[in-house]
Amino acid sequence: MASLAVKGTPSPALSFKVVAECGRSLARTSLMTLPHHTIELPAFMPVGTQGTMKGLLPQQVKDAGAGLILGNTYHLGTRPGKDNMARLGGLHKFMDWDRALLTDSGGFQMVSLLDLAEITEEGVKFRSPYDGSECLLTPEESIAIQNAIGADIMMQLDDVVNVVETDYKRFELAMHRTTRWLDRCLAANKNPATQNLFPIIQGGLFPDLRQTSLEQLTARDAPGYAIGGLSGGEDKDRFWPVVLQCTKQLPRQKPRYCMGVGVAPDLVVCCALGVDMFDCVYPTRTARFGCALVDQGQINLKHKKFNGDFRPIDEACECSTCHHYTRAYLHTLVTKEPVACHLVSVHNIAYQMKLMRRIRESIKAGGFEAFVQDFMAEYYQGKE
Ligand code: GUN
Ligand code: ZN
Repeated sequence: MASLAVKGTPSPALSFKVVAECGRSLARTSLMTLPHHTIELPAFMPVGTQGTMKGLLPQQVKDAGAGLILGNTYHLGTRPGKDNMARLGGLHKFMDWDRALLTDSGGFQMVSLLDLAEITEEGVKFRSPYDGSECLLTPEESIAIQNAIGADIMMQLDDVVNVVETDYKRFELAMHRTTRWLDRCLAANKNPATQNLFPIIQGGLFPDLRQTSLEQLTARDAPGYAIGGLSGGEDKDRFWPVVLQCTKQLPRQKPRYCMGVGVAPDLVVCCALGVDMFDCVYPTRTARFGCALVDQGQINLKHKKFNGDFRPIDEACECSTCHHYTRAYLHTLVTKEPVACHLVSVHNIAYQMKLMRRIRESIKAGGFEAFVQDFMAEYYQGKE
């Protein structure tokens, strides 16, 4: 078992400084310096599952202003595999990305993608979708892969229970197991001086379980913390209190990451609740279905009303898609040409980056409350 670090020990691979606070809400802006980049928070991290953003090149993700992206241990551990990854010198080189990188530990992806995953104290057992062989992802193996990847931030392997599950005992077991797995991850990390390891608060929608998780995990003085087990389709009025319970008790001087959140109003609310980091496949996934993000929600470019609409997706957007192409052009291409998915993804990532920039700027200028009001009025207008 890993020894508990002394509280307040500076992290060698992460420095964090609050720059501005909202005052009326828990929203704040901050600077987080990682080995590969300094990022202004709150920030949205685009997801690059297989070592690439779906539909985008790393340079385009950079042009959109992303300083930190997310990769997945589970996919990269299979192909190119841990040994190849180590031989190559890590994922930064492999995918030609020189800014910061965060990797998720793999368990969540296996449990959510594979029906056959079985969780035991040892780890997550599953059948490989590539060759059908039996595999076991332990906390030690997850960290070994993430060490080979060389991510600036590694996530602990956690026991994730679908939030719609109602069995208290299952959540209780998963929460305590997540703490035990954190200690195994901490003991397995070969590069604590250059790679940060974030614990993940679990406990479903049960305040007492979240409380115990918060107490156990904050005792392991980590460089930052994640809130997991949410955004699985639960009601907002059950999701937001859990976020608030966590952000209120997580250390003020450390980054807080809410996993799997990426729809615009959720980002705005979670920023108000004091969250600093987000990730979600939503902007690139919805782009593959021809949907473009705008302040009113999303527009489905497949709709025939866009035939003959010669405006860009968003007049105020500065992305290359909005500079060069019209809704009518995209309408002609969507679902038929792969380049349409690319063009819409470029816009959607630019949209997320700009939304986070607007949030940060409003906090710094003392106008976050007004921003939230205007944003929500625009987003929900006509939806009541
Ligand atoms: N992505 C979204 N939610 C979670 C979670 O609870 N755990 C992990 N590891 N990844 C996530
Ligand atoms: Zn655009």
